[in-house]
Formats: sequence, C-alpha cells, structure tokens
Amino acid sequence: MAKLLLTSGQVQVLLSSAFVAAITFFLFLAGYTIQQRSIADLKSQLKPRIPVAPHSISAQQPLSGPRHPSRLFNPEQNAIVSEHTDSQQQPEVDWQKLAHVQIVTTHHDVCSTIMFFGDLARLKSPARRILLFPQAWAMEKQAAKHDLIDPYMDITRRLLRRAARRYNVELRTVAAIASKEDIGLASLWALTDLERVMLLRTPGLVQDAEALDAMLAYTKSAPMTLLQQQASGLAPEDLILATSAKETHRVLTTNALQNITSISSALHPAYLSSSNIIASIGALHEASQPNKTAFLETPYIRFDDPKLPGPEWEVEYSRVVQARPEDKDADWLWTKMYGEFAGRRYDVCGLGLEVWRE
Ligand SMILES: *[C@@H]1O[C@H](CO)[C@@H](O)[C@H](O)[C@H]1NC(C)=O
Ligand SMILES: *[C@@H]1O[C@H](CO)[C@@H](O)[C@H](O)[C@H]1NC(C)=O
Repeated sequence: MAKLLLTSGQVQVLLSSAFVAAITFFLFLAGYTIQQRSIADLKSQLKPRIPVAPHSISAQQPLSGPRHPSRLFNPEQNAIVSEHTDSQQQPEVDWQKLAHVQIVTTHHDVCSTIMFFGDLARLKSPARRILLFPQAWAMEKQAAKHDLIDPYMDITRRLLRRAARRYNVELRTVAAIASKEDIGLASLWALTDLERVMLLRTPGLVQDAEALDAMLAYTKSAPMTLLQQQASGLAPEDLILATSAKETHRVLTTNALQNITSISSALHPAYLSSSNIIASIGALHEASQPNKTAFLETPYIRFDDPKLPGPEWEVEYSRVVQARPEDKDADWLWTKMYGEFAGRRYDVCGLGLEVWRE
C-alpha cells in the first residue's frame, strides 16, 4: 500500500495553491456579481421611459364655434370630424405608431429641430422621431459638383446625418413647398404609417420628455388638437397634435390648405386644457416673482421672445441688457435658459451662436 508522503514544503505549496485558487474564485464571483448588477443597471438605464396615463390630460370638447360646415369644409370632412369625436378608444399604446415630428424648411432652423430631437433621445422618449425636410435638399447632391451650392447645405447635411445616427431620427422628404412660413403643415396628416404625431414649435428646450410623451399617447383622438392659449407668449399652434389620415390629407391638399389658419378652420381643432406643459420665455417679461422650481420643471420651454430675435443669435450686449426682464427671479430664469440653449446648441450641433445684424 503506497502511502502518500509529503514533506512540509510540499504541504505548504499545496496549501498556498489552494488558498490562491480559493481567493481567485471568490474574486471571480464578486466580479461576476458586480458585472451582472451593472448590466442590469445599464439595461434599466437604456430602457425608454414609458409614461403612465395621467388623469388630467384630456382635450376639451372641440368645436367651440358653430358646427355647420365652413366655406372651406366639404361634407366628406364632416364625417371625419364626427367619427373622431365619437370614438373613445384608449387602447394599449403602440409607440411605433406615435411620433414627434418636426418640419424644417430653412437651413437656419435645422439645428433647433435637431436639438429638440437630441433632447428627446437624451430623455429616452419611446416615441418615434421624424424630421420632414424639403426634397430639394436631397436632390441637390447630384447637381453639386459644378453648380454653386448653398454654403449652408454642407452644415445641414452634416446635421441631418448626425440626427439620424445619434438621435435615431427618421429623415423623410416632403415635396415642393409653397410658402416659407407654415410649409406643408398638411404633410402631418400624410404620415399614415403613424396614428398620431405631435409637432412642437422650435426653438425650445425639452425639460421633461415623459410629460410630452404622455400627451402624445393619451390625448383623446381628434383630427387636430391645439394648445389652449392660457399663458402669454404662447400660441395655439405651438403644439399641434395631428391624427394622420389619408382622407384628411386629401381634403387638405385638394383645397390647398397649407397654413395653420386655413387648416384649423377646416378641421375644427380640439384644444388641450393642460396649461403646465409649455412655458414661454417671452412671458418672463411680465412675470413678477415667478416660481423658479415650477418654471424649470415645465416640460417644454419655448423661446418666443418679443425683445430678442431668437436664442440662436448673438446680439449686441447693450441690447441684451435692455431685453432682460425687470423682475429679479424672472431675469435669473431668462438668463439661465438662454445660456443653456447656447450650451446645448454647441453640444448637439457643434455650432456657436450666429451674429445678428440689424
Ligand atoms: C392661409 O391660406 C389661405 C388660403 O389657403 C389664405 O387666404 C390666407 O391668407 C393664408 N394665411 C396666412 C396667414 O398665410
Ligand atoms: C413652486 O412650485 C413647486 C413645484 O411646482 C411647488 O412644490 C412649490 O410649492 C411652489 N412654491 C411656491 C412658493 O409657490
């Protein structure tokens, strides 16, 4: 019978090997647990924030005016409107059928719209993001070699690519655009692969995407929903919810209804009663001791300021001083928001402010 005889040296080697093996194993275990935990963290961080249906968000009954058809209104459309007002559907939310949309027609506005999408992406909005831009911008590429190209085209292309790559924005072209303002607003109703789309006017800053998504998902269905004008500095069309439908789009385009005035007189919009969704920078001029917390928690801050051309412009310092709100708190908010806009503009678009010339 062979006996296994070990010298004390060998025992020591064996023991210390066992010790090292045990330590290695525990280290591995610890690392593994941490890794699993951080993967779970990462997963929960990457998950889109799905808003829960709020109680307060509902559109008020539309049709404050007379219900009889307007001149711009044909019988077919009556059917559309009443069908929508009758339906009370509130099914499971399919985020693939909902989108935040921006329509851009000038190179100047491209950065602001992409900042908007950048905000939504950063805040993990689960809805789709769609940017509509003139077909001509996509066509110009082929002609670009010898012809004089728009100097802004390069920047626009770079920004569009970045929007698609970084912020998951779907780029879509729209055909010829008549007027510079209110371009092809009717194209909102042409997005029939979606159920409902929301257009917020830019420039602005998104502070809370969840509230905007809740509005997009849970507002009662109507062909068109606008903002009830409660705060100064805001316009009803600062927020447009559109229920896309082939028939509505056909009616709008055959009657050449392109601008907000003519479209809303045809569609009899519903109005959102919720007032705490958007705040205007311009309203700070009349504010006295505004609640700073409440202002900073507003889901969307819209830059519409009667005293300055826009947050993307750098104006003379003396003019800025003149434009500042008189109230101390309002001034603090105003200055902070303009500064934040400039910072995000640089982060998202890589652009500084543009110099304003009278
Ligand atoms: C809107 O379009 C209608 C015709 O469709 C026109 O009569 C009206 O002047 C336009 N309004 C604005 C503000 O452009
Ligand atoms: C300001 O708004 C916040 C959040 O909306 C609220 O909790 C707070 O009570 C308000 N403060 C004042 C002084 O009204």
